[in-house]
Amino acid sequence: MKTDIIKFKGKEKDKVYLKKISKTLREGGLVVLPTETVYGLGGNGLNKRTCKKIYEAKGRPSDNPLILHIAENSQLDDLVTEIPEVAKKCIDKFWPGPLTIIFKRSEIIPDEATGGLPTVAIREPSNKIAHEILKSVNFPVAAPSANLSGRPSPTKVEHVIEDLNGRVDIIVDGGHSVVGIESTVLDVTVDPPMILRPGKITLEDLQEIDRNITIDSATIDSKSGEVPKSPGQKYRHYAPKADAICFGGRLDKVITEIKKNAEENKDKKIAILATDESYDEYKNLDVKLLINLGSRENLEEVAQNLFDALRKCDEEEVDIIFAEGFELRGMGLSIMNRLLKACSGKVVMRI
Ligand code: TXA
Ligand code: MG
Repeated sequence: MKTDIIKFKGKEKDKVYLKKISKTLREGGLVVLPTETVYGLGGNGLNKRTCKKIYEAKGRPSDNPLILHIAENSQLDDLVTEIPEVAKKCIDKFWPGPLTIIFKRSEIIPDEATGGLPTVAIREPSNKIAHEILKSVNFPVAAPSANLSGRPSPTKVEHVIEDLNGRVDIIVDGGHSVVGIESTVLDVTVDPPMILRPGKITLEDLQEIDRNITIDSATIDSKSGEVPKSPGQKYRHYAPKADAICFGGRLDKVITEIKKNAEENKDKKIAILATDESYDEYKNLDVKLLINLGSRENLEEVAQNLFDALRKCDEEEVDIIFAEGFELRGMGLSIMNRLLKACSGKVVMRI
């Protein structure tokens, strides 16, 4: 399949592009669209065959449900059987934006979109291009992250092209995703509501709405032995090809530990994921890749750069990644959730 790559310019031509995108979606085609979190691999979420095509293009197991994206919250009424009070408050405060909410699903949603679950994940993205595209069709757009299954989610169009060129009809270039990690997933079908995947909207943010909201312990401790409540949690996501070790605890000790490990692994190709506060400390080490994720004072920046960094490690074919840890609260917790998955449990925590 030939993939068209389209870049919106905010001009007359965009109307022609938009028509083409909307026609492709209406005809059951696949369109990668930018969102504020990560790029999404979109298709008609009410069409069984299109949902199947999404799984195929991604190489994803079909029991891992998709998120439906909508342009206006009025679309919700047809898609869910109930909108609990807490969901209404979350919608008022956080939509459009990086929050996905799990509802009890209505009958019009095919099993193919939800992996057969009685619930459905829905979100209204804030990205302007995504909004225009979603407004141009009269159905929700199912869109998992636009990466091949098992690779880090794409935050730049180059990442999407790398994974999906030739596997989808259209890729829309929307520049660098501003959030950089996937949306927070909140299940409101359980009492109290539970975060199944942390993101930019943090536990602390959600507890301002309802202080009983909890977080699934499996989001951080994948070895807790609990069955993951979100099917996506059981797969090894965001996986770089190299082994990865994350060091937690006080920054000065983390730096010492990473330097020591780098010395001991001199025969290997090493990548270090550093921050503004530590970058200079590693400068004299003989490593293949030294990446600065940004400032610890600005975890939004760190989140934005994380997946690109993991992909660079793949490109440079490093053997081992040493990553600094972050505090397990606020955005730090969301970043650690992604890092720990990349490290597949090989975590060294020293406090
Ligand atoms: O930011 C995002 O959410 C991006 C952009 C494109 O919107 N999308 C995304 O989709 O990350 P995906 O498919 O890669 O991740 C969806 C997550 C998975 O972990 C999945 O298991 C979970 O949401 N999920 C979806 N429907 C669910 C449901 N009914 N119950 C529990 N978990 C669900
Ligand atoms: Mg994904």
